[in-house]
Amino acid sequence: MAAPMIGHRSKDFVNLYNDIHPRLQSLVGTTQPVFLSTSSAWGVMEGAIRNLVNKKVLCCCSGAFSDKWVDVAVRCGKDAEALQYEWGTPVDPADIDAKLATGEFDVVTFIHNETSTGVMNPLAEVAAVVNKYDDVLLVTDTVSSFTVVPIEFDKLGIDVLLTGSQKAY
Ligand SMILES: Cc1ncc(COP(=O)(O)O)c(C=O)c1O
Repeated sequence: MAAPMIGHRSKDFVNLYNDIHPRLQSLVGTTQPVFLSTSSAWGVMEGAIRNLVNKKVLCCCSGAFSDKWVDVAVRCGKDAEALQYEWGTPVDPADIDAKLATGEFDVVTFIHNETSTGVMNPLAEVAAVVNKYDDVLLVTDTVSSFTVVPIEFDKLGIDVLLTGSQKAY
């Protein structure tokens, strides 16, 4: 912090970003652009909801953070349904499949590692189920799993993967 600040429109910032970006891509397992947000993780979660949900969002709920996603979706004016599990129980991909088969949903919210209970949910299996439905997007929160376990964004076919800098990373 003793060094002078650099302007966010300066060449120095462009160089810094260009240096960071390929390494972020490798951590995320993608060749697509990775975007940095100056918000907290919830800012990106809310942004995903606001920008992607047109029909209805299915929120996989199994703890404090995933339960809150329904509340956020409703406050954003979206039609939202909780796929509710008892806290401490992992999300079951077969339940998601049954819900998506109704054709009601265009987005699924999913927390890879539910921090409030410590339960890691089966990301690869959930992604495989959601990918059966071309018109449904999978939004995945990896705030407390990112870089702790390998996550292959492109290979798994995740649509939005968000994380924060303050927990696992
Ligand atoms: C799984 C999970 N999602 C979301 C958040 C919210 O992150 P933030 O406080 O950066 O909005 C946290 C932690 O606070 C978290 O553990």
